[in-house]
This record gives sequence, structure tokens and C-alpha cells, in this order.
Amino acid sequence: MDLARIDQIIDKHGCEESSLIQVLLDIQAQNHWLPKEALERVGERLQVPMTRIQHIATFYKAFSLVPKGRHRVHICVGTACHVRGAQRVLDTVQDVTGIRPGETDLDLRFSLETVNCLGCCALGPVMEIDGKTHGKVTPGETAEVLRNYD
Ligand code: FES
Repeated sequence: MDLARIDQIIDKHGCEESSLIQVLLDIQAQNHWLPKEALERVGERLQVPMTRIQHIATFYKAFSLVPKGRHRVHICVGTACHVRGAQRVLDTVQDVTGIRPGETDLDLRFSLETVNCLGCCALGPVMEIDGKTHGKVTPGETAEVLRNYD
């Protein structure tokens, strides 16, 4: 992510300390993670110490200090989804993407996580990609859905 883009984000939200979280959220949304250079630029322009930025970036789950894929895949492995075949869905995602939960592929296409309940148990097994819910997915449908994301 280049500095010009980061400056644009900072200018949009106002160059002041109170804009910090909004600026970080915007960088995270556009870049999928928060590189050190970006944080340094934000600290310099907003006049916020790096220790404070680091604290916020590690405290909120929305932020990542390591590269993340363009698409975030969550597979529910809660009880309701488990009994409806969540493991087979997870196995399919692992086969198609080549990554395991907690990992990101080398092309930065997908990041994969498991969760314990997405709050829509009747739709199990549930896969969520970038916040979009795919319910009652079979392994075949899972592979098909993943192919639609570049
Ligand atoms: S257990 Fe999967 S959505 Fe609730």
C-alpha cells in the first residue's frame, strides 16, 4: 500500500488523534492488514506514538499485523454445524485453498478461520466469506462457491 493512498485515507478522516481508529479500519479494509510502514505514516501524521497504535492494532480483532487474504473464510464448527457435516466442508476448503485454519495462502487470496457459531444454526453447515453467509453447503457447493472469488 503506497503512502499516497494512506495520506488520502488520513485526509479523508481528518488529521487528528481522534481519527486514529477510523483511519486504521479504512487501511485494514482496503489493504486487508496493517503494514509497519503504514502505521508509521499514520503515527507521524496524526502525532500518535507507535506504542499506542500498536496497542490498538493488537487489541481489536478487526485488525491484523500480518498479511491477510483478500477474502476471509469462516467455517462454523459449532455443534449444530458439526452434526450437519461441517468437517467435510472444512476439508473441502482446505483441499481447494491449500491452507488450514489460521493460515493465508501465498497469493493472499484467502485467509481461513474456524468459528464456534455464526448465529444461524438452522442453516448449518455454514460457511461465511467476507461476511456473506453460505448455508446448508455441501462439499461440492463449497468448492463451487470458492471458485467465484478471485
Ligand atoms: S453452530 Fe454453526 S451457526 Fe451455530
